[in-house]
Amino acid sequence: MTEQVTAATLTGMDPSASHSDTRTFYDRISSVYDLIADAGEHAARDKGLQLLHVQPGERILEIGYGTGRALVDLAEAAGPEGHIDGIDVSSGMHEVASKRLAEAGLADRVTIRTGSVPPLPWPDDQFDGVFMSFVLELFPEAEMKEVLSETFRVLRPQGRLSVVSMATVQEGEHDSLLEKTYKWLHRHFPHIIDCRPIDAAEVIRSAGFCSVQEERLEIWTLPVAAVTARTPAS
Ligand SMILES: C[S@@+](CC[C@H](N)C(=O)[O-])C[C@H]1O[C@@H](n2cnc3c(N)ncnc32)[C@H](O)[C@@H]1O
Repeated sequence: MTEQVTAATLTGMDPSASHSDTRTFYDRISSVYDLIADAGEHAARDKGLQLLHVQPGERILEIGYGTGRALVDLAEAAGPEGHIDGIDVSSGMHEVASKRLAEAGLADRVTIRTGSVPPLPWPDDQFDGVFMSFVLELFPEAEMKEVLSETFRVLRPQGRLSVVSMATVQEGEHDSLLEKTYKWLHRHFPHIIDCRPIDAAEVIRSAGFCSVQEERLEIWTLPVAAVTARTPAS
C-alpha cells in the first residue's frame, strides 16, 4: 500500500524535527526523488504552473524547488527577459536542480540558493509570482503562517501565488482506503510521514491574500488542491 503513496506524502518531516533534519533527509533522497515522486506528482505540479500564468519578462520565485523540474518550465515561460529565483533547504536538491538547468541551457535565467525558509532572504516587493508544490504542507502550522506572510511580503502588489498541496477531503466526501491508510501512518509514524493534508485555500486566505481560488485533483485517490491567489493592489 505505501508504495502507492506519493513521495510528497512519504517524504514530509516531523513538525518537531529541525530544519537540519529536513535538510539531511532531502539530501539523502535527492538523487532518487524523481523516481519516487514524479509519476504521481507531475500532473498536479503542471496544473499549478499553468494556473500561475507566467508571462515573458516576469520575475518568479519557487520555494522548495526540489529537483528543479518546475524551475525549467518557469524559466521557459519567463523567457530571456525574465528571471527565476529558487530556494531549497537541501544542498542535494540544489545539485540535482543545477545539473538539470545546465542541461536545459537555462542556468543564466535562474538563480537558485540553498537556505531554510522562513524567512525569505529577499527585500519586499520583488516578485510577480511565487510557486510552491508539495512544500507548504511540510511546515507546522505556525511556520506555515510565517512562510505565507513572507511570501506576501516579497510579492509585488497584485502579485500571484500558486500552491499545490495535499488536501483535506471536502464536506460530503469520504476518505479513500489509501487516504485512511495514509492518515493512520501519519498518526503512528509522524517521523516518516508528515506531509499532512491541509486546507491550503483557508490558510492562504487567512494570510491576507485575495482572489483565492481552488482546483481539486487526485493522486491515486489522495486529494490534492491547486490554489491560486493574489496580493491586493497597493
Ligand atoms: C516534497 S519536496 C517537493 C519538491 C518540488 N517542489 C516538487 O514538487 O517536486 C519538498 C521540497 O521542499 C524542500 N524544503 C523542505 N523544507 C524546507 C524549508 N524549511 N526551507 C526550504 N526548503 C524546504 C525540500 O528540500 C524538498 O526539495
